[in-house]
Amino acid sequence: MNTKDTNAVVGKPLNRVDGHLKVTGGARYSAEFPVAKMAYGVTIQSTIAKGKIAQIDTKAAEQVPGVLAIITHLNAPKASGDKGDGNKLQLLQDNVVLYSHQHIGVVVADTLERAMHAASLVQVRYDEEKPTINMRDNLNKAYFPKGKIPGEEPPDQSEGDVTQGLATAAVRVEQTYTTPVENHNPMEPHATIATWQGDELLLYDATQGIFGDKRKVAAVLGIDPKKVRVMSYFVGGGFGCKGSTWSHVPLAAIAAKQVKRPVKLVLGRIQMYGPVGFRPETVQKVSLGATREGKLTALRHSGTSQTSTFDEFIEPVGKSARMIYACPNIETTHRLVKLDQGTPTFMRAPGEASGSFALESAMDELAYALNIDPIELRLRNYAEVDPSKKLPWSSKSLRECYKLGAEKFGWQKRNPQPRSMRDGNYLIGWGMATATYPTYRSPASARAQIMADGTAVVRSGSQDIGTGTYTVMTQVAAQALGLPVDKVRFELGDTEMPQTPVSGGSMTAASVSSAVHLAGNQARSKLLQLAIADRASPLYSAKAEDVIAQDGNLSLKNKASARETYQAILARHNMKMVEALVEAKPGEEQEKYSMHAFGSQFAEVRVNPDSGEVRVTRWVGTFGAGRILNAKTANSQLIGGIVYGIGMALMEHTVTDPNFGRVVNHDLAEYHVPVNADVPDIQVFFVDENDPHINPLGVKGIGEIGITGVAGAIANAVYHATGKRVRDLPITLDKVL
Ligand code: MOS
Repeated sequence: MNTKDTNAVVGKPLNRVDGHLKVTGGARYSAEFPVAKMAYGVTIQSTIAKGKIAQIDTKAAEQVPGVLAIITHLNAPKASGDKGDGNKLQLLQDNVVLYSHQHIGVVVADTLERAMHAASLVQVRYDEEKPTINMRDNLNKAYFPKGKIPGEEPPDQSEGDVTQGLATAAVRVEQTYTTPVENHNPMEPHATIATWQGDELLLYDATQGIFGDKRKVAAVLGIDPKKVRVMSYFVGGGFGCKGSTWSHVPLAAIAAKQVKRPVKLVLGRIQMYGPVGFRPETVQKVSLGATREGKLTALRHSGTSQTSTFDEFIEPVGKSARMIYACPNIETTHRLVKLDQGTPTFMRAPGEASGSFALESAMDELAYALNIDPIELRLRNYAEVDPSKKLPWSSKSLRECYKLGAEKFGWQKRNPQPRSMRDGNYLIGWGMATATYPTYRSPASARAQIMADGTAVVRSGSQDIGTGTYTVMTQVAAQALGLPVDKVRFELGDTEMPQTPVSGGSMTAASVSSAVHLAGNQARSKLLQLAIADRASPLYSAKAEDVIAQDGNLSLKNKASARETYQAILARHNMKMVEALVEAKPGEEQEKYSMHAFGSQFAEVRVNPDSGEVRVTRWVGTFGAGRILNAKTANSQLIGGIVYGIGMALMEHTVTDPNFGRVVNHDLAEYHVPVNADVPDIQVFFVDENDPHINPLGVKGIGEIGITGVAGAIANAVYHATGKRVRDLPITLDKVL
């Protein structure tokens, strides 16, 4: 049985199915669930980066009317911050302060205002110790990490002999590139509502991973995961900081248990600079060796990044270097420096975004050293297979991306000479870079139900972090079921629904679409089996392959009059529905192919030669990312990634006071992100890519590739405009002059 082409809604630029809810305020975010008898939690955060709490005086706070509890290390119930997967948490178990903004208490009151007021009255005296804050002063303490980098790869990897490859190179580029701490700043802050019914815990939580949340909270509280349910219908941006469970989530549950009422705990913007992760500072050394003809003979990418004193996070800056260019000698290393700051975490393309700034800048430097066009240099080192894994690509359209990008941008008109292009007094620069991000996939499940009224409901745990999961999964489900999209409801965001992975690593589309597609197909097949086994059906005894499913009808391919509706089949069998529950897992293709999305980024900048101000004035991004599930949401997703990259290149920088370890610019007034005036018309193009190996629908993720290469392309454009190579992000005007 087939679904007819007219059902082909996958790929169409369908408007967001949740768009109306979102713009009318009907979309319910985690802090917005109406819960009876709600109490309000506010955390108290440390004002020092290292030391001990000598005294914590809560007397004045306790006198505030409406205060229900003040929980500190002096009275907190036992919990284990070390248990479960993911980050080590701080759950008020002792008086040790490990970083600035660590939660050291929770005040609960009957209103938010009373809780905030009471929290402001808590007096804390510290035995302060001098924190280690500055990574660049402590590079001599860098150590080899215990853990692996994403993709289960080792921190260090070596192919061939890089030292030899550099020694024999005709031309070498050896430079150090640095990136600062950056904070995620999603529009929706971290927010949790915790409610207990007996020994069962229900959490409404702003999270990228409801199932991970459930496991982690159960583990640290020492309760059976079956007793924990997590719901999250809408997430107002995550970018990685909501990809794992942080301390405030179990703290909300602890507080709710204590006061025997539901507790809502929302972190303020300022409170998110420390306890919920950030992109760590990096120092990256890139060494490239090449022949006169521009063939790479050596590629070394060595990264050092910060971690906390009590936990480990590796920013995998060297990851792309393992696969992006053909080179016989590739070496990548990752080292960590422990600082008295919170544990860093995943931030949009962790490693690929920060690492591509260094590697793609170095490739541009090499292009200038060789006097070869930057695109041509990349083509001369085009990796026909994955150079480290020695595996074929499941699909790769990077050549097409370069070609299309160059055409759309008008690259052939570029005079490579720095400072050669002007617009009046302004210096104009054009730069480009390669984009790449791996395609991850994890087991995911979905349940599809075709109902007696001819509609369908498909459920799959999962999350929509603003990316369009509701919309694209509605499309995938509708096509598999042979139903119009307006007859299909896709639901997500509840751990009572079939299990799915975290919405991180750009893997929701690939993982969940596989399950939704297969579940939809199976439910439709069950309906067909009912029909062809039924003498009363016009499809009785038909061969499955001769039947078409379309618009809620089954019909014979060669005899359109032999048809009946889904409702008719279910009604005759006196059934409320047919349903299918499917788990879709990655298989042996994972060992046979290397799987990545690729793209190219083209930037135009305009630099004021007097002030050094850089403005991005034009952008073309081209991507080969498998099957695009929705042309509109995909376009938006890539634009979002590029905007994020413009912020990374020109603005974002979390500044920490080196003496006290306090973030100085801990709000959106001082932490600069791009606004509309900073963003030019961004043109995104997809090249058609049919990947038959990667997963049932040939889908690659697009959540993160958009930011990769962006900072590099801008740095390269700034060099082209000014002749000044800025190797330290962000590229602020003081560095350009
Ligand atoms: Mo993404 S940084 O994997 O949420």
